[in-house]
Formats: sequence, C-alpha cells, structure tokens
Amino acid sequence: MRERGSSSRPGTVAVVLAGGTGQRIGLRIPKQLIKIAGKPIIAHTLAIFEAAPEVDHVIVMMSPDHIADVEKIAADAGFAKITAILPGGATRNDTTRRAIAAVEGLGLGDCNVLFHDAVRPLLSQRIIHDCVKALRTHRAVDVAIPSSDTVIVTDGDVITGIPDRSRLRRGQTPQGFRLSTIRRAYDLAAGDPAFDATDDCGVVLRYLPGEPIHVVAGDEQNMKVTQPVDIYLTDKLFQLSSQGLPRRRTEDEYTERLAGRTLVVFGGSYGIGADVARLGEAYGANAFAFSRGGTGTHVENAADVRAALESVYDATGRVDYVVNTAGVLRVGPLVAADPETVEEAIRVNLLAPIHIARASHPYLAETGGQLLLYTSSSYTRGRGDYSLYSSAKAAVVNLAQALADEWAADGVRINCVNPERTSTPMRSSAFGEEPPESLLSSEAVARTSIDVLLSTLTGHVVDVLRHDPLQPRGASEADAPGRSPRGEKSRT
Ligand code: CTP
Repeated sequence: MRERGSSSRPGTVAVVLAGGTGQRIGLRIPKQLIKIAGKPIIAHTLAIFEAAPEVDHVIVMMSPDHIADVEKIAADAGFAKITAILPGGATRNDTTRRAIAAVEGLGLGDCNVLFHDAVRPLLSQRIIHDCVKALRTHRAVDVAIPSSDTVIVTDGDVITGIPDRSRLRRGQTPQGFRLSTIRRAYDLAAGDPAFDATDDCGVVLRYLPGEPIHVVAGDEQNMKVTQPVDIYLTDKLFQLSSQGLPRRRTEDEYTERLAGRTLVVFGGSYGIGADVARLGEAYGANAFAFSRGGTGTHVENAADVRAALESVYDATGRVDYVVNTAGVLRVGPLVAADPETVEEAIRVNLLAPIHIARASHPYLAETGGQLLLYTSSSYTRGRGDYSLYSSAKAAVVNLAQALADEWAADGVRINCVNPERTSTPMRSSAFGEEPPESLLSSEAVARTSIDVLLSTLTGHVVDVLRHDPLQPRGASEADAPGRSPRGEKSRT
C-alpha cells in the first residue's frame, strides 16, 4: 500500500468545512445533513475525497451539535481517510483557523491543504486533480467559473458600477494552499481588528498581496447548496451526472455479479421487461418473466403477484432482484375516459407496484436485493392528455423514495428508471412508426436497468436519455423529429 504523504510529494489534506448552520435554507438541520439522492449532502462530499487519489487525509469541521451525525456517516460508509471530526467556529474563517491548527497537528510538514465547502457535493475529481497539480507550482489556488450574469455594484438601490463581465469569475471551492502560506495569512489577519472575509483566498489576497493566487477552472455543477431551490437543482444534477449514475461494468463483472442470482420481471413478455430478463439470463441469472399474456399474471392482483414470487422462491430458493415494467398508457382527456380505463390505469400503474413492493420485501430482505420500478419524465410535470399516466408515475417515484427510507435498515434497495421515449411494440402501436434516431432502444434501457440493479443506489430516479443533457448540443438535434412538444412517453 502506498504510504500516505510520503516524501516523494507533499501530502494533501482535504478540510471539509461543515461548521455552518445554513440559515438561508431555513431548515431545522444544518444544510450539510439534508438528504439528496438518498444520502446526506456531506456524505456525498466525503465520498469524493475518499475516492480522490491525490488526497491523503480528510478533516471534517462540523457544526458542534452534529458531530455525532458525521461520525455515524463516516462509520457507516467506512471512510478510511477521515483523521478528525472537529467542531467548527462561529464564522467560516473561524472554522478555517481551527482547521489550520488541526492540519498542523498531523505533522505532515508544509503539506497541501484543500478547503472545501461541505455543501458542494458535486465536486469533480478533475478539479481536485487540477488543484493539487497547481499546488506544485503555486502556493495558493482558487477554483472559479465565468459569470454568465452581468454583475452590478450598488449603493442602496442605485447602481454605482458595472464591472467588465469578461474579467469576472464566480469563486467556488476547493481553495488550496501550502500550509505555511495560509497559516501566515491567518496570523496576519489575527492582528487586524477590521478582519472580514467570506473565503480563504480573500485572506491570502489581503494579507499576502505578493502571493499569486492561481485560478483553476471550476464547473457549473460544483454549485453550493445555499437557497431552497438549490436542493432541487442538486438533486436533479445528481440524477444527470455520472456521480449519480450507476456505472457500466465489464462483461466479466456482469457475469460475476449476476450468475446464480434470481431475477423476477413483471411485465416481461416484450419491450424493456423482456430485454431485462434476457440480459440477466445471458449473464447467468435465473430470470423469470411474468406477464398477463405469458403466464396469466395480473400484476394488479395481489394474489397473482404473491403466487409468482412464491413459485420463483420454490424453484431457486432466493429472490435477488424484482423488476416491474408492466404499465398501461392511455392517452386522452380525463373527462372522456370511461370508468374502466380510469380503474385500469390506476390499478396497473400504481396499485401493482404497491402489491409488488409488499410481496417482494420479505424475499429481498433475505438477499439484500433490489426492487426496480419505472417512471416517466412526465412525473415532474403533468401534461394534458396524460393525467392518469403521469399522476400514477409521479406516485411511483414518491413510493420508491418512501420505501428507500423504510427499507434502508433491512438492506433492501429500491429505485426508479426514467427512460426517455423508447422504441417498443407498445409505443409503435400507440404512436405509429417514428424515426428510430428519435427513440431509445429498449436494450439500452434494459442495460441501464441492470446497472442500477448492480449499483448500491437506493431511492434514486435514474434517467435514461438519448443525449447527455449536461453536454452542449446543436439546435438541429434538439429539434430532432419525434421530439414532441407534448413529450408523450411510452416505456413498454
Ligand atoms: N461554514 C463553516 N463554519 C461556519 C460557517 C460556514 O464551516 N461557521 C461552512 C458551511 O458549513 C458551508 C461552507 O462553509 O459548507 C459555505 O458557507 P455557507 O454556504 O455560507 O454556509 P452557512 O453559513 O451554513 O449558510 P448560511 O450563510 O445560509 O447560514
């Protein structure tokens, strides 16, 4: 094992600043403990440094009343790099001051220190790498992105200046320093009764004006959770970013993880469900597909669901994964729907996942397994003609999030896959032939479904998109045929 902070390079200590209370977000718990994508924000942040090859030690500066929460998070996740969890100070700069003393206590000499806001849980490994690299040639490093807004300077409610936007940057973290540099800056600040700063580079700029502060490119995703809307945005970014996505594995890994496991698919006679079962089987899983047409299994009937699971358990002695792709999409105005259509939509799209969840839980608790449900992007926003479908799909997301909480202690995971328009027999019968390039293949959705099953995620909505929405793309693609303004979806 590599010796940490060995003489070949200066060691690097990441200080996670979590001493604040998050007044602006206005919740009862400090914002760094708010759960996003199934985990407290600070747990995401700590996992990033744990995974960073450049970082040797992590020190957490926590709001004093919540140190035990971080101790539990660290113990549960088995973070090995955390050397100390200490109380933060009254201001961010107080917290940094205390952290400097703690880093000195590690006895690593003039090591690198990266100060990072706990509430920036989407920090990339690239930024950490660039900061540590820059610290080879500079003693102070900041991370910043261009400002897309024009920034105005005001006096009361009157503009007094508009700085040239092209030179403005928005500061992020980490801010990195050689320990002796930040120590000297804070020593000088201590003797200044007018000391006031909101970050650490500001302290170096003011008290060590001769010290160049190198700027590393940050990224838009490295946002700070500050206002209530940021919780929503961060949650979305987690879903979209690679950090929130399950990873692709090698063929050998799929086989290793799936061979001998039992996979049950409801709605598995065609489309995504059939492909999930086929893929699972190809990697050595015992896959069982249940459907109305194939096995006479009506998912909206609790007894049918129980019988299906019992038969599988009798056959293989275990149930590791349960996948439900059964669903009905009836398009049209609600008032025009007959009562049977209304009943069917709710029974198949909502009651069935509930039956399946209740019946699967005891089996999945035995294996530490996972239930996978499917939603539609219309779950975030209802659209005319899709009231029954969208509202049930919104409920499915809520169901999965609630059960992720309820089942965490039993080791059972539950997630939702949210596929974009997918090429399936049901879709073509509802909407006719559409340009193939405007649709996802059901195999692609099935592949991501398997990746989710093999991940440690729980309580997530994993989007499957044709394009990475975080990458810029041409207008011609955005306007591709088949991208209906009403955004109708079909997933089976
Ligand atoms: N921070 C800290 N010690 C403090 C204050 C803030 O370690 N006394 C940390 C916060 O926990 C956060 C980061 O500094 O991770 C950025 O600060 P900010 O967003 O301003 O956090 P809060 O002070 O928690 O928020 P608010 O200003 O809304 O109260």
